[in-house]
Amino acid sequence: MTEWTPDARELADLELLLSGAYAPLTGFLTAAEVESVTERGRLPGGAPWPDPIMIALPDEFGVGDRVTLKDPEGAAVAVLTIVERYGHHAAGPVEALDAPVYGPFARLRRTPEQVRKDLPDGEVLAVTMRGPLDSATLEDVAATAEELDAAVLLMPLVFGESGPAVVRAALKAAEQLPGASVVAVPLAPRENTEIDLELREHVARNYGATEHYAGPAPISIPGPPHKRGLVVFFTGLSGSGKSTIARGLRDALLERGGRTITYLDGDVVRRLLSAGLTFSREDRDLNIRRIGFVAAEVARHGGLAICAPIAPYAATRDEVRAMVEEVGADFLLVHVATPLEECERRDRKGLYAKARAGLIPAFTGISDPYEEPEDADLVLDTTNMTIEQAVGAVLNLVTSGGWVR
Ligand code: ADX
Repeated sequence: MTEWTPDARELADLELLLSGAYAPLTGFLTAAEVESVTERGRLPGGAPWPDPIMIALPDEFGVGDRVTLKDPEGAAVAVLTIVERYGHHAAGPVEALDAPVYGPFARLRRTPEQVRKDLPDGEVLAVTMRGPLDSATLEDVAATAEELDAAVLLMPLVFGESGPAVVRAALKAAEQLPGASVVAVPLAPRENTEIDLELREHVARNYGATEHYAGPAPISIPGPPHKRGLVVFFTGLSGSGKSTIARGLRDALLERGGRTITYLDGDVVRRLLSAGLTFSREDRDLNIRRIGFVAAEVARHGGLAICAPIAPYAATRDEVRAMVEEVGADFLLVHVATPLEECERRDRKGLYAKARAGLIPAFTGISDPYEEPEDADLVLDTTNMTIEQAVGAVLNLVTSGGWVR
C-alpha cells in the first residue's frame, strides 16, 4: 500500500467522484476514455466531456497498486486502484475512506443523495454559481422558478481562494428566494466554457435538478496592484549581486512607505528556515519551495515579499510562481545575470576559490548547474552598473506596474 497527495484540482475531482456527483463515473479516466471523450465529446453512458478527470502519479506506482490518496493535511480520503498507467497519469476506480469533510462551509458540501432526499417532489431549478447573482439575475431566477413551479437549488461552485465568497453570495441569494436550498460543490472551472457549462449541467442533474440555470461568469476584479500581494524573486549565481540589490530594494521601499515588506535572503533563510539542508538538488528544491511557501503566505495577505536565493532550477522557480499566482498575487522574476567570470573575479566570500580547489563540492556555476531563466521580468548584469542603477531598475519595474505608488 502506497500513499499520495493529489493537487487541489485532482482532490476536487476526487470529492465529486466519491460523492456521486460525476455519476456514472466512479474513477479517474483511462487513456481510451480520455481519447474517446476528446473525439466524441461524450463519455460512454452519455456523461458530457469531463475535461479529463485525470490524476498524475509518480512513475513508481504501477498497475495493481492500491494507492491511499491523502489531502494536504494528511487525512486519508480514498483508495485508488490503478488499472492503467499512461504518460504521467493513472486510471482506476476510487473508494471512499471515512475521512471527515472540513474546510469553510463543509456542512454545505452535501452529497447528491442527501440533497435529492431533502428536495420536494417535482421540478427543481438548479443555479450553478461562480460569483454573486446581481439583482437582475436574481429576479430572472425567481421568475423562472415560478414559471416552472420549481424548487430552487443554489449550487455555489467552490474551488480555490474565492470558494467561501461564492458560498456567502449563495446564502445571501437564498434569503431572497423563498424555500431555496444551498449545496456547495467543489467543481473546478474548466477553461473551455462550453465544457464547463456541460459539466455544470451534468453535476446539477445528479443533484436532482430538472432544469439548470448557469449563473453569470464572475467578473473577477483582482483589485488595484498597489493593494495586491507581490513577490519579487531574485535569481542568479552566488556573488552576482542579488542580495545587495534585494536589500537596496527593501530599503528604498521602506523609505517610500505604504507597503509592508518581508525580505527572504538566501543566506539568512539557510540559517533558520532551511537550516540543515545541503546543496543537493533535492535540498535546493526544498529550500526554494520553503521560500516560495512563505512568500506566497505573505502575498496572500497583500504583503510584498522579496526573495534572493540562487534558485538554480527553472522548474522550481516555476513552482514558486504558480504558488504565488494561486493566491491571487503577482510574481516578478528578476534575473541578476552577472556572468560567472565577474562573480568569480569579485569572489566576495572567497567561495569560488574554495570551489575551484575542490573544497566545496557541487558549487553552482563551477560544479553544479544554473539554469538561465527564459521568463525573467527583468535581467540585470551588474558588471558595469552601480548598485543604485540596479536598484533603480527594479524599483522602476515595481512602480511602473503600479505595485507601489
Ligand atoms: S539555492 O541553490 O538553494 O538557491 P541558496 O541561495 O539557498 O542556494 O544559498 C546560496 C549560498 O550558499 C551562496 O551564496 C553561498 O554563500 C552558499 N553556498 C555554500 N555552498 C554552496 C554551493 N555548493 N553552491 C552554491 N552556494 C553555496
